[in-house]
Amino acid sequence: MKIFFIGPGGRTHVILWAALHSHLVTEAYCAPGNAGIAQERLMNGDPVICVPILATDIHALLAWAKKHKPDLTIVQEDRTLALGVVDLFQEAGLTIWGPTKRAFQFESSKIWAHNFMEKYGIPHPIGKACNSERETLNFATALGFKCVIKPDGLSDRNNVFVCRTKEKVAEAIGRLFGPVGVGSAVLVQKLEEGDEISLHFLCSGKSATAFPSATDHKRALDNNEGDNCGGMGTISPSPDITDTKYRKVAETIITPWLAGCKAERIDFRGILYPGVMLTKEGPKVLEFNARLGDTETQTYLTRLDQDLLPLIQGSLDGMPYQPNEIRFSDHVSVCVVMASPGYPGPYKVNKLITGLDVVAKMPNVKVFHSGTKLGVDGRVYTNGGRVLGVTAWADTRESARVMAYQAVRLIKFEGGQHFRHDIGGAPIEF
Ligand code: GLY
Repeated sequence: MKIFFIGPGGRTHVILWAALHSHLVTEAYCAPGNAGIAQERLMNGDPVICVPILATDIHALLAWAKKHKPDLTIVQEDRTLALGVVDLFQEAGLTIWGPTKRAFQFESSKIWAHNFMEKYGIPHPIGKACNSERETLNFATALGFKCVIKPDGLSDRNNVFVCRTKEKVAEAIGRLFGPVGVGSAVLVQKLEEGDEISLHFLCSGKSATAFPSATDHKRALDNNEGDNCGGMGTISPSPDITDTKYRKVAETIITPWLAGCKAERIDFRGILYPGVMLTKEGPKVLEFNARLGDTETQTYLTRLDQDLLPLIQGSLDGMPYQPNEIRFSDHVSVCVVMASPGYPGPYKVNKLITGLDVVAKMPNVKVFHSGTKLGVDGRVYTNGGRVLGVTAWADTRESARVMAYQAVRLIKFEGGQHFRHDIGGAPIEF
């Protein structure tokens, strides 16, 4: 099979790496890819070809696909999906895996998703769509300022404000409705307390099958301090929930979700990723994403114990998987993100990365690239906020953590680096 991957980051690197374990893949292309993707090899030893097209240039991506005729295009990039790349490719008769623009509304409109949860009885925090500064302030005041304020559209996590004080609410309103605000409508939700876990379902239209649990670490600094960001690392399975409870939580969410999709005639083929808070009153869906999480994917796919491609094909074909049909190892997998100093605020790029060659020899450790590029000298340089997802898997949580942090110790960026020390457990001394 000739496969075309779309995406520049860590999630795309992992999906591509997992897919390349399959003998079914005979040619692989990635637009635009990154330094890590460019260094991957197929089972037959052939290189992956990176195609210099931005993941947001969906018309150029279509033109490339029409010319090169891939058997399958795989896209899990949020901005690309929000633009309707799946509809565009399908209209051209090309096979592509991911939700359509309409189905992607679970992620691209927080207000639409909130209304869907209200209508179909999916547990979620109390919330309200607000269209003005005054309305936002009034609802946030009614919640005692303990709220989360997020823009309606697709947003990076830097625009999600977790508020506990009047001052933080004022800052959120200033930023979201101000001159460089991201839109005129926001969703204000009650701030829920508890352990947050990530769920992922492989969806094939009428059915959905849960992946194992995972815990993401969305704050930039240890002990969940610092700003919200794209995520600084993940552990799977989550240490915060038992398997039995996880299955119950998954059922509580997916049964009404599937009923809602049926009623609304939404044919969802891809990954549904609810972010869930385990509160004293039960699980509550904070938000839906409609693609694989970054860095959850790094931990799931290093545990996947079967060929990824038939799973994707099954999702496309509407095949109903049973819970135990997707096989994951019992390993614990830990991914530690190494970021550019300053992230999620301003940061510098073009810093030489060293140590990758040493880490490449470590068993059960894999470094997935998020924001990297190859220099003209053939060496790897930083090219983004989140730079690398250093991932290790082992029989126990402690071993996986020790291995991941051993690898982190060996990798250096010129100018320093920034990572959390507490992914999956208590902070590790450096
Ligand atoms: N894990 C956070 C995200 O993918 O949005």
